[in-house]
Amino acid sequence: MKKLWGGRFTKETNKLVDEFTSSIHFDQRLALEDIEGSLAHVQMLGECGIIPAEDADAIIIGLEKIEKKIIEGKVEFAVEHEDIHMNIEKMLHDEIGPGAGKLHTGRSRNDQVATDMHLYLRRKTTEIIKLVEEVQKAIVRQAEENVDTLMPGYTHLQRAQPILFAHHLLAYFWMLERDKERLEDSLKRINWLPLGAGALAGTTFPINRERTAELLHFDQMYPNSLDAVSDRDFILEFLSIGSILMTHISRLSEEMILWSSQEFQFIELDDSFCTGSSIMPQKKNPDVPELLRGKTGRVYGNLIGLLTVLKGLPLAYNKDMQEDKEGMFDTVETLEGSLSLLAPMIDSMTVNQDKMYAAVSQDFSNATDIADYLVTKGLPFRQAHEVIGKIVLFAIEHQKFLLDVTLEEYKSFSPLFGDDIYAVLQPKHVVDARNSYGGTGKQQVLIQLQLAYDKLNHKE
Ligand code: ARG
Repeated sequence: MKKLWGGRFTKETNKLVDEFTSSIHFDQRLALEDIEGSLAHVQMLGECGIIPAEDADAIIIGLEKIEKKIIEGKVEFAVEHEDIHMNIEKMLHDEIGPGAGKLHTGRSRNDQVATDMHLYLRRKTTEIIKLVEEVQKAIVRQAEENVDTLMPGYTHLQRAQPILFAHHLLAYFWMLERDKERLEDSLKRINWLPLGAGALAGTTFPINRERTAELLHFDQMYPNSLDAVSDRDFILEFLSIGSILMTHISRLSEEMILWSSQEFQFIELDDSFCTGSSIMPQKKNPDVPELLRGKTGRVYGNLIGLLTVLKGLPLAYNKDMQEDKEGMFDTVETLEGSLSLLAPMIDSMTVNQDKMYAAVSQDFSNATDIADYLVTKGLPFRQAHEVIGKIVLFAIEHQKFLLDVTLEEYKSFSPLFGDDIYAVLQPKHVVDARNSYGGTGKQQVLIQLQLAYDKLNHKE
């Protein structure tokens, strides 16, 4: 089969080389973007009189036919034609004859592929933002139902202070909110048009890049043709943002795994999100959050992979850059899959409020509140901390929790103690007392929920 670039060659390409250099088995995902870019390019060529209007029209009709066939799954891509760009150009030849050869006027595959990737990532970024929002909605829904659910808050995975479960969940809402913001911000840079840069240096034809940018809805053109064809930082940025997003997903998944263990029993995942064991019939395994946690590895890998591919490359295009695609597709697909599962998994989980409450009632997570109590009675915090340390030790030795220590016992540690200490030590009081902005007190959590609604309704 003759290559589109075969003129200078006297021998057929080695079969192994065809297979090794070809990208069609993965870049066929760019088929529709490739056609979209070509349609704009050829329309511009026609309008500028660079090719005759009839030729431009014939190419447009041909490309639209191919587009339809691709959508209907009626095309076969060939390894011999290396990549998506040449496969489609070959199809166009088959469709309309030699006039197809005019499509590539004033263009190179280098600015073409960069344009396809910008178009693809713009579409996917917008879709992923919507998926993140679905997870946020599920979080808000569970938070609403759990504004009175107390649970232990942890540091070092040791019980630290009681908090509201809604507060814990909403922490993830804000992480995802920033992920969304990062994705939205990256669109500014994705919205630069490379097309018109040619192979590396621009073109001798009087093209109108503004027009192509307008047709493809780009905000601006790359002002430097070398940068336009060499840069992949818009992909690096996506992979970085995706990595941060996966970190958040992974941490939440880890908590869901812990919380659903027999040791915690704070939540139960819906049966439809769990799997069984082939040998131990009693088991209900949290495979989905485990895989979400596990898939974080490949998303980080894709970022490191592309950083490494690019780091030593001289300007402008190098074939190494074809390695930018699989990692990007993989991260897109991993994020889409992960976010699509996470939302219904959060939404359908059962919260075991009694277990959580039992946990906060049987620990020393109200200890800080005795210290704060003594501070309000005039003792400096450092001294109060010392006194409470001794009380905690005393309670442990006598197998009591702080609510079981008698008033006489308290008074033996400090004369400042009064009967009002018991109200202060109730877990609900402990939580509500944390009424500083952003704290876990119910009043603050309700304010936070309102902020979350406003974000979701784009009121703010
Ligand atoms: N398949 C190639 C890629 O993805 C397209 C650009 C090829 N350009 C070239 N000069 N060989 O990088």
